[in-house]
Amino acid sequence: APLGARNTLRVNAKAALLAEVHDVTKLAELLAYPAVKRGPVWVLGEGSNLLIKGDIDGTVIAIANRGVETFQRDDRVLIRVAAGEHWDDFVRWSLGQGYAGLENLILIPGTVGASPIQNIGAYGVDVAEFIDTVEAWDTHANAFVVLDKAACAFSYRDSTFKQQPGRWIVVAVTFALPRERPLSLDYAGIGDELARMGVVRATPYHVAEAVVRLRSRKLPDPAVIGNAGSFFKNPIVPAAQAESLALAHPGLPVWPHDGGTAKISAAWLIEQAGFKGEREGDAGMSNRHALVLVNHGKATGPELWAFAQKVMAGVKARFGVPLEPEPLVI
Ligand code: EPU
Repeated sequence: APLGARNTLRVNAKAALLAEVHDVTKLAELLAYPAVKRGPVWVLGEGSNLLIKGDIDGTVIAIANRGVETFQRDDRVLIRVAAGEHWDDFVRWSLGQGYAGLENLILIPGTVGASPIQNIGAYGVDVAEFIDTVEAWDTHANAFVVLDKAACAFSYRDSTFKQQPGRWIVVAVTFALPRERPLSLDYAGIGDELARMGVVRATPYHVAEAVVRLRSRKLPDPAVIGNAGSFFKNPIVPAAQAESLALAHPGLPVWPHDGGTAKISAAWLIEQAGFKGEREGDAGMSNRHALVLVNHGKATGPELWAFAQKVMAGVKARFGVPLEPEPLVI
């Protein structure tokens, strides 16, 4: 089965088997088929955070269930969303219902089910803050399980789902969204954008609009040019190393992070190492944003991966900092 339309980097790889699952109660049955059981099994949503390095000699399961339910538990309103729902539709729906919190996360590609896996985040907000529980099929226990937030072990672009690849198939996410929350305005030019928009007293809607404007300007649209968003994580290094790097390279953006570490800008390192807008054949780094690996047309998985590795080696040689891919590389 062709996967070209199922990954936003538009790699024309094939999978031996492809199953689009609309009814997740059938998952156990599907996984028990001998051809599927032989493995490997890869689960994807919209394939927006994925680099497929080659053909897949196994099964790709695309989770495509739908549905949003709101219910009350104790004094909280909870919203249970099927994994196959489109993330951005859910964000817009939540704002329309008068919930606050997801406005900074508007326009992120992908499905709701993918959102906890890498703990999606943008403009100073991570989705983990709003997650109550995650329902998943546990391939170890052969049963549906409910993971509470602590069990998800969320951290920067990471979770237990990412740490134990292949173990869980997320089928639904339950969110606890506040009616009111202080706006997160302190990151990456949101305040400036609001000022340009002439907004004086910002609401979540204004912030969402500002983020849409910022993202549309800075990030290449996967509908126009193949990409998977940020291809590298912002490296987390010991605070002392960040300090000496910043001394040696004024201009390097550094953000405070947990416990004696600091987060530094991968985009800046990549741009300074000369890779922004560079390409080899159809594989390259975007000329709009240095962190985004792009497919200009017909790049293959191995070509994209080779270019990514070249960027990693170049940044390591120049700054001594190892970069880590952020999407799943399979
Ligand atoms: N920069 C450059 N060159 C560039 C782009 C950026 O030097 O081409 C420098 C600038 O100094 C800029 C700094 O990098 O101030 C940070 O750039 P930006 O605000 O665009 O954020 P980022 O660190 O590149 C992260 C997330 C994005 C998220 C944005 C906004 C990661 C890996 N990436 O990018 O998330 O949208 O912040 O919050 O954490 C994603 O994860 O796929 C993603 C797009």
